[in-house]
Amino acid sequence: MTEPSRSALTFHEETKHSELSVRTSSHYLDWGNRPYPFKTYKGLPLVPLPHEFSHPSKSALKAIRSDNQLTADTLDLGILAELLFFSGGLTRIMKTRAGTYYMRAAPATGALYPIELYVVCGDIPGLKAGVYHFNALDFGLVRLRGNDFTAEVASATGRTGITYPLTIAFTSIAWRNAWKYEARSYRHWFWDSGVIAANLLATSSSENFPIQIDLGFIDSQINHLLGLEPGKEATVALAQIGIARQASESRQTVAPRLALDVEPMSREEVEYSIIWKTNEESELLGPREVEAWKISARPRADRNPARGPLFHLQPLKEEQHSPSTLERTILKRGSTRRFAPTSIPFEPLSAITSAAASPIPLDFQLPNESLVDFYFIANQVEGIPPGSYWFNQAEGSFEQLKSGRFRDISGYLCLNQPLFADASAVFFLMTDLHRVLDSLGNRGYRAAQFEAGIRAGKIYLSSYALGNGASGSTFYDDAVTEFFSPQAKDLSTMIAVGVGVPAYRARSGAVLVPKTQPT
Ligand SMILES: Cc1cc2nc3c(=O)[nH]c(=O)nc-3n(C[C@H](O)[C@H](O)[C@H](O)COP(=O)(O)O)c2cc1C
Repeated sequence: MTEPSRSALTFHEETKHSELSVRTSSHYLDWGNRPYPFKTYKGLPLVPLPHEFSHPSKSALKAIRSDNQLTADTLDLGILAELLFFSGGLTRIMKTRAGTYYMRAAPATGALYPIELYVVCGDIPGLKAGVYHFNALDFGLVRLRGNDFTAEVASATGRTGITYPLTIAFTSIAWRNAWKYEARSYRHWFWDSGVIAANLLATSSSENFPIQIDLGFIDSQINHLLGLEPGKEATVALAQIGIARQASESRQTVAPRLALDVEPMSREEVEYSIIWKTNEESELLGPREVEAWKISARPRADRNPARGPLFHLQPLKEEQHSPSTLERTILKRGSTRRFAPTSIPFEPLSAITSAAASPIPLDFQLPNESLVDFYFIANQVEGIPPGSYWFNQAEGSFEQLKSGRFRDISGYLCLNQPLFADASAVFFLMTDLHRVLDSLGNRGYRAAQFEAGIRAGKIYLSSYALGNGASGSTFYDDAVTEFFSPQAKDLSTMIAVGVGVPAYRARSGAVLVPKTQPT
């Protein structure tokens, strides 16, 4: 990692949205060149995943909070199918004049789906040890390597003497999202991975499987293992699933270079060099850097109480308890396209916030620590006056910063999208980037964006679990900071999410796996 350069800050500054930057952008969408949203390897057979697999049946809110003991240890192909489906599987197919859209279990900026999932596992019942790519369209796995490389993952993540039975790797294909969002799309690598990770964490918890997410790994080693094309795609995160075991020496296998042939996704691609510069300058180059990364984040600074009125989080009332299982919640989830400009009660907002702020097992900090602060605009929440708020996590209360009716402002801050003026509340997940980069270096940028992505995913899921709707949003960076200042004066916005009551009845998605599977 090149230190003390702050290339991540340069990237952040250069990719801020403002009214001016949006108005003067000359970028247009070349629909004929829209990237195909599935990675297709030429000439490699598909190992079908089973059609019949268990669905996450635990209470959605419990699974999102993951406050149960995670001790399950009997992985098999069915569990793998469940984890992959409820994180990245197809839940809706929409045919429009512009073409067919395949919507998935987790949201994705611009419905472009830049994140690919890979599996690295030892032998598990129903699946031989190997490195596989998850093909969401055909619901199967493409075997890229046929040996046990779990020790290779352990070595790249600084673990000696133990291996995890299963790793799900998240990678990003840069052009898929840059086609629409240009250089700013680098942020989406982490947003789009984060929301998928929220689904994976909840699904794993529903099945009682231990899970740990690593952002600390030797980039070149994992990218090589997965056969990624340098300068086009890179690994974002590794989810370690199951109970770690003593590694046997014989498991060490050298990973030769892979020669993979992939279908082009677009007629032509544009490269945004700032994306690759920022990513490269946040790489971990060797074991010492990986070691130094672990639990090295300085947690959020204590903020001064805002001195405004305080509202303690309230538990759900009996009639607000939703019996929604995680399965139903994920299948129902979709990004709300129109909110009714109405209210939601305070108790569900409390439940959504506390679920979204619940501990996450990330390698750069202790599970109950966080890089992310929750700010929000309450447009219409029964039980608290309209205004702007900060969530004091230590106290479990919302502190009012400004009182007032801010529907126009919440819409404006979200790039003037009426959707976010109509939302009952709009969250802005913020972080002190200087503080984060001081302790984690440039890679801290990945960490803050990714953690915000997971928390945004938890907002989505808990809103739907309680019968409401949600949609992620982009935003005018500096205008958000200004609006929440002085309290937020040192903070940068990572992600925005609106929650509220959908203005229409959306049909639920389904478990869409192809009827006939290739052999
Ligand atoms: C981090 C994030 C930001 C998003 N930003 C916007 C946005 O600014 N405006 C919008 O209408 N939808 C936004 N979306 C919603 C996506 O367009 C949506 O997830 C995608 O079309 C897939 O549809 P689905 O969520 O219904 O499955 C965002 C989603 C995420 C995860």
